[in-house]
Amino acid sequence: MTVIKATNITWHQSHVERAQRENLLNQCGCTLWFTGLPSSGKSTAAFTLEHELVKRGYMAYVLDGDNIRHGLNKNLGFSAEDRDENIRRIGEVAKLFADAGVIAMTSFISPYRKDRDRARQVHVDAGIGFMEIHVDTPVDVCEERDPKGLYKKARLGQIKGFTGVDDPYEAPLHPELVVKTAEQTPQEIAADILLYLQENGYLKHR
Ligand code: ADX
Repeated sequence: MTVIKATNITWHQSHVERAQRENLLNQCGCTLWFTGLPSSGKSTAAFTLEHELVKRGYMAYVLDGDNIRHGLNKNLGFSAEDRDENIRRIGEVAKLFADAGVIAMTSFISPYRKDRDRARQVHVDAGIGFMEIHVDTPVDVCEERDPKGLYKKARLGQIKGFTGVDDPYEAPLHPELVVKTAEQTPQEIAADILLYLQENGYLKHR
C-alpha cells in the first residue's frame, strides 16, 4: 500500500458537483480501462473510440501507456514495482479526468490484477463508472504483428521481463467487455463500446 508522506494536508471541497460539469458536457464521466498484451491493439481501439466519440460531440481523452511514459511516468521502468506505480498513478489520473466529466480511456498493458483492481476501487470509492475492457488477442497474433519489433528483441534476450515472453500477464476475471482484435476491426470494436456506453446511460442524446 502507498503511504501518504505529506503531513498537514487538508481536503478542500469544491463548490461545484460533478453532475454540474456532466450537465455541461451531456455525458457522464467514466473510465474505460483497456488492458491486454503488448501489440494486442489497446491503443488502436482506444484512439479509434476517442475519435468516434469526439466526432459525435462527446468529450473523450486517451491516456496511453507509451505516451504517458514520455512525460508523467518517465521515471518508471518495467519492474513489478514500477509497473505497480505506473498503474497506481494512472488509476488516479483517470479518476480525475472522469471526475471532470470526461470519458477517460486508459491504454496500458496493466498486467497485474491487483493493480487494476486498485484502480477500479479508487473509482468505486468516488462513485465513478469504471469499465475494464480486456483486449483479448492471442499472444501468437500479437507476436506476429510486433509493430515495434519488441517481441523479436525479447526472444533474442535483448529485452528482459517483456510481458507475454518472460513476464506474466494476468487476464481479467470479470471484465465488463472483451474485445477480439483478431476477429473485429477497430471500427467494429469502437462501435460496440459506443453502444455499451449508450445503453448504460453514459452518453446523453443530442
Ligand atoms: S505496464 O506494464 O506498466 O502497464 P505500459 O502499458 O505502461 O506497461 O507500457 C508498455 C509499453 O512499453 C509497450 O507498448 C512497449 O512499447 C514498451 N515496453 C518496453 N519494455 C517493456 C517490457 N519489458 N514489457 C512490456 N512492455 C515494454
